[in-house]
Amino acid sequence: MPVWRPFTTHYPGMPEAIPIVRAQGAYLYTADGRALWDGTSAWWVTVHGHCHPYIAEAIASQARTLDQVLFADFTHPAAEALVQRLGERTGLKWGFFSDDGSTAVEVALKIALQYFHNRGERRTRLLALEGAYHGDTFGAMSVSARSRFSAPFADLLFEVEWLPFPSPDNEDLLYQKLQAIEGRADIAAFIGEPLLQGTAGMRGYLPKYWDVIARAVRQAGGLVIADEVFTGFGRTGTLFATDQCAEKPDILCLSKGLTGGFMPLGLTLVHERVFEAFFTGEPLKTFFHGHSYTGNPLACAAALANLELWERAETQAQLEALVRTQAELARAWAERFPSLPVRQVGLVWATELPDSDTGYLSHHRHQLKAFALERGIYLRPLGNVAYILPTLASTAAELSRAVEVVAEYTTDAKLA
Ligand SMILES: Cc1ncc(COP(=O)(O)O)c(C=O)c1O
Repeated sequence: MPVWRPFTTHYPGMPEAIPIVRAQGAYLYTADGRALWDGTSAWWVTVHGHCHPYIAEAIASQARTLDQVLFADFTHPAAEALVQRLGERTGLKWGFFSDDGSTAVEVALKIALQYFHNRGERRTRLLALEGAYHGDTFGAMSVSARSRFSAPFADLLFEVEWLPFPSPDNEDLLYQKLQAIEGRADIAAFIGEPLLQGTAGMRGYLPKYWDVIARAVRQAGGLVIADEVFTGFGRTGTLFATDQCAEKPDILCLSKGLTGGFMPLGLTLVHERVFEAFFTGEPLKTFFHGHSYTGNPLACAAALANLELWERAETQAQLEALVRTQAELARAWAERFPSLPVRQVGLVWATELPDSDTGYLSHHRHQLKAFALERGIYLRPLGNVAYILPTLASTAAELSRAVEVVAEYTTDAKLA
């Protein structure tokens, strides 16, 4: 099949992608009749479960009413209501639509840089966290950790200043770096994944570190960008990770779970004080950026339906129950396999498997995936980091079973 698949090494005789014919709740159904429990939430996008009827109906109804408009000249109720509601929820009143997580990040970076340009200030320096991943477009790659993925483009990525990943071990270094930015007149913005770096291997950190970074960046006159493309919509145990932080972002990037996992949509929310630099009537202070599908009505309708589901008490209760289960499973794992580090942040459970290559290319990525698939579970390890990120349609028993499959693999391969 001449379809070039993402993040996939291609070679003659490679395995075909598995045809999926339908999905429901926590399960994907293959063309050959197998049910696979989805332990990845479809690359971290599916929130309430696959094909959730409430979101499906909202999209169907929108599709019968209004499919698309040219968003520079027109608007529609779903887009207006979505930005209004998220603005009330986050305090970030203005929303700029794009198509996915990478473009939500590109938009955030460009807005931050142009904000200073419009104000006549020469601030162009960006700060990011070591290990960061913000997407695959050039700006997003530039603010992401340099890696084997971005090596072919290394010479073309712009320079960024790196802050150490916040942890008790790195605390002194982090504080030193933050002290060194005091009074700097060139800092435009800091961008970070609040509380949990996903692609880096599901690494969590405490809200106090987010706060201390955000305060230092603000004191230096820079903006704070929260990339909640992954952490948004319950992943860290609250709707947004920054709900757990005292310092709120000036700019917030959303995608992935924004539509409950149904439609591609990026949204960059911006504080009024940032928007003001663009609210001048001067043509050259326009944000000259846009995508053909900006504000797609079907995607906006899906996102609104997703927000409505989040207002239901049962959604919160289910999130809390699954977070408790993940925490219990992590505790039990630590006792059973003391040599294999285990992490749990909100809905995410993860463990590190030993390998001579502990990066993304670790052999566990293929071997554990194949092992779990044979047992009816879809996992996609981040190299040697096995993780489980369930949809809210999952049960405690399914989470335990998924962890048990990782345990069986670990025992079979004599890893602990
Ligand atoms: C934190 C974060 N930001 C941005 C992105 C990029 O999103 P997308 O893959 O939708 O472009 C990702 C994707 O995994 C992510 O985890």
